[in-house]
Amino acid sequence: MTTRERLLSILKAHRGKWVSGEHLSSELRVSRSAVWKHVSWLKCKDYIIESMPKKGYRLKEASSRMLPEEIREGLENNVFGKREIIHMDEVDSTNRMAKDLAIRGVPEGALVIAEKQTRGRGRMDRDWFSPPGGGIYMTIVLRPSLPPAEAPKITLLTGVALAESLREISRIEARIKWPNDIVIKGKKLAGILTELSAEIDAINFVLIGIGVNVNTGEFPESVQETATSLLIETGQHFSRAPLVRDFLSRFEAFYDESKGRGFDGIIRRWNGLTDTVGRKVRIDAVGREYTGEALRVDTDGALIIRDERGSLHRIVSGDVSLI
Ligand code: BTN
Repeated sequence: MTTRERLLSILKAHRGKWVSGEHLSSELRVSRSAVWKHVSWLKCKDYIIESMPKKGYRLKEASSRMLPEEIREGLENNVFGKREIIHMDEVDSTNRMAKDLAIRGVPEGALVIAEKQTRGRGRMDRDWFSPPGGGIYMTIVLRPSLPPAEAPKITLLTGVALAESLREISRIEARIKWPNDIVIKGKKLAGILTELSAEIDAINFVLIGIGVNVNTGEFPESVQETATSLLIETGQHFSRAPLVRDFLSRFEAFYDESKGRGFDGIIRRWNGLTDTVGRKVRIDAVGREYTGEALRVDTDGALIIRDERGSLHRIVSGDVSLI
């Protein structure tokens, strides 16, 4: 834990009560002016902390930003959320920034997270609406020992972790639309943008970009009919850091499981959470269109569909519309 994290945990443990500067400086083994500097930094990050001569400091409210200190609080992971977290108030795209860091060699588990994106990207070069404070915009750097062809399984793994987290935290019936949309009653709540840098036989890195519409109240006209948020679905605002934390702990558990036991268990969970399997679908698979019934996702994460003539097709990537 950093000094700032320890300071915060003391203030949180005494939330609403005064803690003297002397006590903080002796607990943290830093000078009183260092305590004051850390408190000033926290105030700049939207923590509401009162200070009074002779009484010390009193935390009234924690910050609602997705700060590393908030994400890490009580997180029991070894890697995700425990390595470098780069928190930005504003960035063009967390995937773009994470890509630069990955090229420069940041280790697996590095996380870029932003309050706002000015050029958030979705699949097929679409825009991802990223207003300040409304959503979660983050990218995780992975360096898996997998053949490049198996990278899509990581998108499925991410989808399972994200859908389960959203269900747990907000009690909504989040489902997965193949390959990477989290939907509720057919409307999109979250998306995953997986980007890969690889040689023929080995992955250099994978970027998992995740966008979740949490407290977004309104969407641009172009996606008004198709997008939704936790706020719209439940009428409630949600704190984003606990959601990120819950997601990271599930993600790490599934990622470890995939290394030890493979992806079979994860694919089974995915099949239980999808709204695609069993439905009639139209798939735009980069230049080819397929219509038929979605039967299942196979062990490589490909979608198997049966067309009207009974032929089976194995689709590796594409855009699905439910008919
Ligand atoms: C999609 O459904 O098309 C994928 C959307 C992914 C959006 C996220 S937001 C954080 C990360 N940074 C980006 O620019 N995109 C992803």
